[in-house]
Amino acid sequence: MKRVGLLTSGGDCQALNATMRGIAKALYHMYGDEVEIIGFLDGYKGLMYEDYVRLTPQDFSGILTKGGTIIGTSRQPFKLMRVPDENGLDKVEAMKTTYRRLRLDCLYVLGGNGSQKTANLLSEEGLNVIGMPKTIDNDLYGTDTTFGFQSAIDIATNALDCIHTTAASHNRVFIVEIMGHNAGWLTLNAGLAGGADVILIPEIPYQIEYIIDAIRQRNKRGRGFTIIAVAEGAKTVEDAGMTKKEYKRRVADMIKVYPSISYEIADQVKEATGIECRVTVPGHMQRGGAPNAYDRVLSSRLGTYGAHLFDIGEFGKMVAIQNHVITSIPLSEVAGKLKTVPPDSDIIAEARMLGVCFGDGFDLPVNK
Ligand code: F6P
Repeated sequence: MKRVGLLTSGGDCQALNATMRGIAKALYHMYGDEVEIIGFLDGYKGLMYEDYVRLTPQDFSGILTKGGTIIGTSRQPFKLMRVPDENGLDKVEAMKTTYRRLRLDCLYVLGGNGSQKTANLLSEEGLNVIGMPKTIDNDLYGTDTTFGFQSAIDIATNALDCIHTTAASHNRVFIVEIMGHNAGWLTLNAGLAGGADVILIPEIPYQIEYIIDAIRQRNKRGRGFTIIAVAEGAKTVEDAGMTKKEYKRRVADMIKVYPSISYEIADQVKEATGIECRVTVPGHMQRGGAPNAYDRVLSSRLGTYGAHLFDIGEFGKMVAIQNHVITSIPLSEVAGKLKTVPPDSDIIAEARMLGVCFGDGFDLPVNK
């Protein structure tokens, strides 16, 4: 009998269930009744505190299209993994004990950056671990894309589409704030898909003067409205020059006045142009609902590859997609690295050629 564990960790996203289904269906296909699947509840917490359910083939039926995660998730920061819990429990030892007590042959970790760091730690501690690349942020190193990302782009794009019609009717400036943590992938892609005039991402620090200039230029061309897609982690040039500590203080000061960076930008735009400026924050909607068709296919493929890795006994790896090929990468290579948008990438150059302003004053085509 083979026995494998599944856990979903960190912020949820679309296609977590679809990925677990992919793994499970392929395992049942290969091993039939000779495989047992255990689902740890609420991420690493379930592994630490032996909180789990035995899953059956029925549990994986009908979940391809279901958002969220049937086994729950939670954030368990990597930096606290070596810090005992409030009762003095050694979390890493506890996870190893659960794994061994349940006589697991493998643990699948569906998670983003922090979760894969912990997956690597457990692998280094001798557990058979396979990582599955989850996050709407698409900031996971070693994979071209992550499941959840394309579905989130659809939702953020829909928000921009809806805002477009109302912005045009009212001749207003509209800011749509998009998730993505410290990476601009989601904002860049949704911004392009939604025809945003200005796109602000953490990788390209902005100066408010250039944004105001772009709005004025549009007005001169007879366009009374402007759509600005702002990444939640967008930074000014001054912010980008700060130390981590200074930036933390700056954000702490800012949120005493504004709920987020978008509202600060809106105020600055209003003051400089006199044009009404509204902010829309789709927030966690971007992580919710059913996975789109792309993510259903991607996660099914990633899931079956994850089962294949188990079958051939390759552990300590994260399943990935590179150049359209499903493959894997050692967890040790993934851990601790962030994949951000290269400011000199083709997609940025192409966006600039479309006339998109990134708030950095380089609005002319480059590299083309
Ligand atoms: O990592 C996914 C993500 O949705 C980020 O885009 C966002 O910054 C963060 O999670 C929000 O976290 P929480 O759900 O804990 O508010």
